Amino acid sequence: MPVRKAIIPAAGMGTRFLPASKAVPKEMVTIVDRPVIQYAVEELVRAGVTDICIVDSAGKEALGDHFRCNAELERLLEKKDKTRLLEELRQLSSLAEISFVAQNEPLGLGHAVWVAREYAGGDPVVVLLPDEIIDPAENLVGEMIRTFDTASVSVVAVDQVPHASIGSYGAIEPEDPKADTTAVRSLVEKPHPDNAPSDLALIGRYVLDPSIFGILESLPPGAGGEIQLTDALAVLAGRGRLLARRFRGRRWDAGTKQGYLEATVSLALDHPELGTSFRNYLRQAGVAQ
Ligand code: G1P
Repeated sequence: MPVRKAIIPAAGMGTRFLPASKAVPKEMVTIVDRPVIQYAVEELVRAGVTDICIVDSAGKEALGDHFRCNAELERLLEKKDKTRLLEELRQLSSLAEISFVAQNEPLGLGHAVWVAREYAGGDPVVVLLPDEIIDPAENLVGEMIRTFDTASVSVVAVDQVPHASIGSYGAIEPEDPKADTTAVRSLVEKPHPDNAPSDLALIGRYVLDPSIFGILESLPPGAGGEIQLTDALAVLAGRGRLLARRFRGRRWDAGTKQGYLEATVSLALDHPELGTSFRNYLRQAGVAQ
């Protein structure tokens, strides 16, 4: 059975993005013409996911509002003959079956995934961290689902990062550091660069066997005193049940101010309607060729 369910952890406070994320959830911050959470949902839908559980927390009501049908707004657009906008809004609320579960205490990413265990109901799931935006032209999650189907073991996506940055990520010890797909021997969350097992970083895309929920259940707190998804993955790796898929395309960490700016410029230049005029603007302003 192909993987059809996904969990998007979105309960974090977004401290790296303050003050923008004080009253607006960081997942609702707009990049070009849509909020970060919409990029996440659209990426999953392109990969064949039909059912999504967003793990949220107090103050994140806007996430539900964004995907829910707004009948009054639709009636207004209909009356004003704004057919194209109306169509776009209707598509948005029918992208996937979206449900919500609350993480009431900030106990870590592993805990956020664990609170969605009943939603998973014994099925394999994709976990997608929305801060990490992957080039919409890629189908990384779709490829990972195919690998999961063939190998019947969990799959994580990794990217080679500068050595000095590996401490911001979970790092893997690969069996074959050069291969596109490799078995994972072990993992460490936020290693000191001197002790990192490699510079191959987890980039927030996981296809997980349901056994992950049982592992998370009894996991002690790890790095930063939090229940870490990476520590649960290390258990799978120890059992020889984890593969890593190397991603070589473009991605942006939209949870940081620099990554957000880079994503905005790159995605604006790629935009089918805005790209040409935005490039012209950058040329006129003397900041691009
Ligand atoms: C989380 C994960 C980490 C992963 C990173 C990707 O860390 O715990 O393993 O490498 O996302 O962005 P966070 O960025 O939430 O500290």
